[in-house]
Amino acid sequence: MNKNIVCIGAGYIGGPTMAVIAKMNPDRKVVVVDINERRIAAWNSPDFRLPIYEPGLEDVVREVRGRNLFFTTDIESAVRECDIVFVGVNTPTKMFGRGAGRASDLQYWEASARNIKRLANGDKIIVEKSTLPVRTAAAMDAILNYGDSPYRFTVLSNPEFLAEGTAIRDLLKPDRVLIGGPQDEAGQKAVAELVDVYAGQGDAWVPRDKILTTNVWSAELTKLAANAMLAQRVSSINAIAGLCEATGADVDEVARVVGADSRIGNKFLKAGPGFGGSCFKKDVLNLVYLCESFGLHTEAEYWNGVIKMNDHQQERIVSRMFKAMFNTLANKKVAMFGFAFKADTGDTRETPAAYVAKLLNEEHVRLSITDPKALDNARLDLEGLDRIEYVEDPYVAAEDADAVLLMTDWKEYPKLDWARIYSSMRKPAMVFDTRNCLDQTALKRLGFNVLAVGK
Ligand SMILES: NC(=O)c1ccc[n+]([C@@H]2O[C@H](COP(=O)([O-])OP(=O)(O)OC[C@H]3O[C@@H](n4cnc5c(N)ncnc54)[C@H](O)[C@@H]3O)[C@@H](O)[C@H]2O)c1
Repeated sequence: MNKNIVCIGAGYIGGPTMAVIAKMNPDRKVVVVDINERRIAAWNSPDFRLPIYEPGLEDVVREVRGRNLFFTTDIESAVRECDIVFVGVNTPTKMFGRGAGRASDLQYWEASARNIKRLANGDKIIVEKSTLPVRTAAAMDAILNYGDSPYRFTVLSNPEFLAEGTAIRDLLKPDRVLIGGPQDEAGQKAVAELVDVYAGQGDAWVPRDKILTTNVWSAELTKLAANAMLAQRVSSINAIAGLCEATGADVDEVARVVGADSRIGNKFLKAGPGFGGSCFKKDVLNLVYLCESFGLHTEAEYWNGVIKMNDHQQERIVSRMFKAMFNTLANKKVAMFGFAFKADTGDTRETPAAYVAKLLNEEHVRLSITDPKALDNARLDLEGLDRIEYVEDPYVAAEDADAVLLMTDWKEYPKLDWARIYSSMRKPAMVFDTRNCLDQTALKRLGFNVLAVGK
């Protein structure tokens, strides 16, 4: 078995993951392939204008690109010269037919499996990197090992737990790596091969006791379960936030004390505009669909509540603005500070800001959106909506605005000159801090009406 690796899919997962695998395994060649030529060209751009933004990513790519990391659209050669094939293609929520709106759309995944089968020139280990419904590996196995192929394909599940915005840090020092494999001899041999990749050359990367191995179905389900539980914590604290607003309790105080209980812990207890990103909603919906398919309707309803609460939280933002701005928003100017689904990423997939922007647009608000990294994506997401401008400079965005609506907790926002912003706005001027990241007392002192979440 050679040591080379190919990854199909050069997106948010394939790019950063393979860059770090190449960095920590300088003895292996790592090739990332994609059908999207523009994306591959961006990964190869001479001035490192990479297709995604992640802190620290450019440094790693500068170190390894051309050394042992390569980006290409030539899937044929890449599959032939590598024996470990990661598949990191997109698995969005299916928008048609059976399971529409909940199930995963597996067409890109299956196309990749058929490509591997067509191009293979020897035995291969196939690694599921995408997030997939439980038992997808069985379908993969059926496609790959069908008929009298001279080659043997062993399918492993190796879900990715990195979070966007901290992808490089998470990859370099993961809490754990999960590898699920068939329980037979060939399966366990393949698992050992993949464990070696994550241990890194000279065991310099992930400590072996942090590389957890399970059967394939447990690994596939663990990824969905982990995301569902993270999303559920966000919805839980947001459900408490509504009650805080109604009663005079302060959600940040409640969260601090609840989180001090070591059984609960203090992470993911921040009230805000709700979760976004490409994964949480998609994966919870996928879990709902799986539960329903197995006749587990109460379980499905339980997880669906997590999504309902999240949508409600965003609708509540607009309701509260409406009420605080004298029950009419038409023709008022709102400066939206931040559009990315969280700080330190340009990713806007399922960002709460997009849903809120659409709701405000229905109220005929004039929206001025600013974001340090996500303006290009915002333009695409809101294409076709009128009364929206996209502005680099937050001070310009806020000029003559009736309200600033902070949606993303970029660290530069608390450091802005809020006195200057206040003086340029129409009065009464409002700030709605949906991330509770600004100094709200100081803002009130300046004259702002301040809305926050759970206060
Ligand atoms: N983004 C995250 O933070 C994250 C975290 C953990 C897991 N995941 C999972 O990883 C998977 C990929 O997510 P992503 O965010 O990287 O998606 P993405 O859309 O950014 O990237 C997927 C890439 O796959 C390419 N592709 C699709 N079909 C192909 C084919 N047949 N051959 C070659 N390339 C093909 C697309 O062109 C695209 O560039 C998803 O299943 C997702 O749930 C994502």
